[in-house]
Amino acid sequence: MTSPLNYLMCAPDHYDVDYVINPWMEGNVHKSSRDRAVEQWQKLYGVLKNLVNVELVTPEKGWPDMVFTANAGLVLGDKAVLSRFLHKERQGEEPYFKAWFESKGFTVYELPKDLPFEGAGDALFDRNGGWLWAGYGFRSELDAHPYLAKWLDVEVLSLRLIDNRFYHLDTCFCPLTGGYLLYYPPAFDSYSNRLIEMRVPVEKRIVIEEADAVNFACNAVNVDRHVVMNKISDRLKQQITNCGFNVIETPLTEFLKAGGAAKCLTLRTVEVPVGESVAVAEPSGVEARIVELTGHLLDSGIINRALDLVTDNGGSFQVLEFNLGEQRQSTSLARIRISAPSHDLMETIMGELIEIGAVLQDRDTCAANLEPVLQDGVAPDDFYVTTIYPTDACVDGEWIRCANQRMDAAIAISPDGKTATCKLLRDLVVGDRVVVGYDGVRTVRKPEARENSKKEEFSFMGAGVSSERRVELVVEQIAWELRQIRDRGGKLVVSCGPVVVHTGGAPHLAYLIREGYVQSMLGGNAIAVHDMEQACMGTSLGVDLKRGISVKGGHRHHLKVINSVRRYGNIHNAVKAGFVKTGVMYECVTNNIPFVLAGSIRDDGPLPDTVMDLLEAQRLYSEQIRGADMILMLSSMLHSIGVGNMTPAGVKMVCVDINPAVVTKLSDRGSVESVGVVTDVGLFLSLLVQQLKKLDSPVAIAA
Ligand code: ARG
Repeated sequence: MTSPLNYLMCAPDHYDVDYVINPWMEGNVHKSSRDRAVEQWQKLYGVLKNLVNVELVTPEKGWPDMVFTANAGLVLGDKAVLSRFLHKERQGEEPYFKAWFESKGFTVYELPKDLPFEGAGDALFDRNGGWLWAGYGFRSELDAHPYLAKWLDVEVLSLRLIDNRFYHLDTCFCPLTGGYLLYYPPAFDSYSNRLIEMRVPVEKRIVIEEADAVNFACNAVNVDRHVVMNKISDRLKQQITNCGFNVIETPLTEFLKAGGAAKCLTLRTVEVPVGESVAVAEPSGVEARIVELTGHLLDSGIINRALDLVTDNGGSFQVLEFNLGEQRQSTSLARIRISAPSHDLMETIMGELIEIGAVLQDRDTCAANLEPVLQDGVAPDDFYVTTIYPTDACVDGEWIRCANQRMDAAIAISPDGKTATCKLLRDLVVGDRVVVGYDGVRTVRKPEARENSKKEEFSFMGAGVSSERRVELVVEQIAWELRQIRDRGGKLVVSCGPVVVHTGGAPHLAYLIREGYVQSMLGGNAIAVHDMEQACMGTSLGVDLKRGISVKGGHRHHLKVINSVRRYGNIHNAVKAGFVKTGVMYECVTNNIPFVLAGSIRDDGPLPDTVMDLLEAQRLYSEQIRGADMILMLSSMLHSIGVGNMTPAGVKMVCVDINPAVVTKLSDRGSVESVGVVTDVGLFLSLLVQQLKKLDSPVAIAA
């Protein structure tokens, strides 16, 4: 023995792969050789005995993984935090390790029941800074970390493991003497990688390749300048040696079958706190909050979404209460404690949770934080960014509903604190008070009735994207909705691109306007130009729509039309003067349907009606959208997304485009009321009109 260090090992008398609790054990049940295991363990034991003092704990029958003493607990000074194993297959080891710690005079700390923590397998001291790197994601729970910080009085840095082959921190991460770090970055999420890079300077980071990682190169025992490990590549060996270490390789293949190697087989039991000054600084960055969710949490999948988003963002949760409603229609309620390794991640998680309707429960956070606008058109940092869902802000103890709900806005609170309004950044003025952070903000999801949750494929509640084959089906439903809206005096807004004309849809859209189905028309310069080109010259971008061929000189047609309309002053005048006699624009004018044409950089002309001031165009669009029951978005990515951005939840949106990407983009807003139809828009409109006519025909109804 050359060092005053103590290590704990456990002879492999009862070692075997008996069950599967990590991917290494899969396919290896009872496949390891006892003799070879004993031989390899003895070799390791021999190597270590030359370096340190090795103590032994008695192996117990029935607990084959007890050889992996790294998982006994975590030691610092005379304190030992006993492991709480995640899997029942290993929980029986706990009393034996506890007894051993006590026999050696350690004060043993035990975590609350059901809060797993797997000892030094998931907690490693930095050999320079003295802080504790603690892993979570597979075995140990993030919520165990604050206990470590408190009991051991040490700063804890939480690292999230994301590759199940590296389920314990010590399988992919090994701090070395002098502040060096041997590790496999892809085993960690990006946030954890950033944390590591912030703490360990690049020249001290020894990054290993996957081939070495799967040989458990990081599962090394480091004693001063010696590093003891399973066989590794020559390249890595050279790299480690270059950093001034002596690499000692010893074969541990039999233990790899259970998912362990050198480090797992040992527990360092002499750990002295590094310099008082370091150890007292910020104990643990782990933050916790409680949120409540109500609704049809199971049917709607909200609960899964909520829990997934917490873990996907590196957080952890504990369901404090889950009250499943009693009747078929009752809603359920969940109270969930969320923890995150840092304030930033907590904010990210809260943002997403609030978006799906969670409400923060902490008493002191039930008031929205307000900050004044200090510069016109600029919000305070961290302003709450709105979504499409109805949103409430808690001001002076009252929840108030935001007016003009739309996404990507700030919430401005009136001076008397009585009203809240969604305001675009550019509309903010000095003196406005804006909500910052997520405290005191909640979004409201209307609880779907249970029936609706068993969705038909293309029902409006389906948020589905249909393919060509099912177009008829979805058209039937849309036609039905259109009829309803018209008959009750509702509002249908159509936004469309010129493809409507190119694909022969213009007469059908004109029919919809004429028959009173459309209350407002939104588009760009092009739809109007090509519609009138077709009305006046029978072509669309120079193509004869009846014959499908280009007409001689046809490429100039649309400019001639623009020129004529300019002569008349605007579209209204051109229609009234009899220049335009059919088509979409004609019907808008003759039926007094308001339209807004928003300009763009590629516009020819433009028509005098085209609004080239985009801020003004946005304003006019949102004015038209107000009060809409449904928006039919026809083959224009630009206008569909523009419109989608202004539309609050609750407005049904039907997006028709031949490009699935456009349709998906729209349904990704997460609005349950939107439906996407991937098809040719001309075909869609013709089917729609056909269906509407069928609804009008008494014969069809009787049939
Ligand atoms: N079969 C054991 C388990 O899955 C292996 C433990 C390895 N220990 C370690 N510190 N990585 O729990």
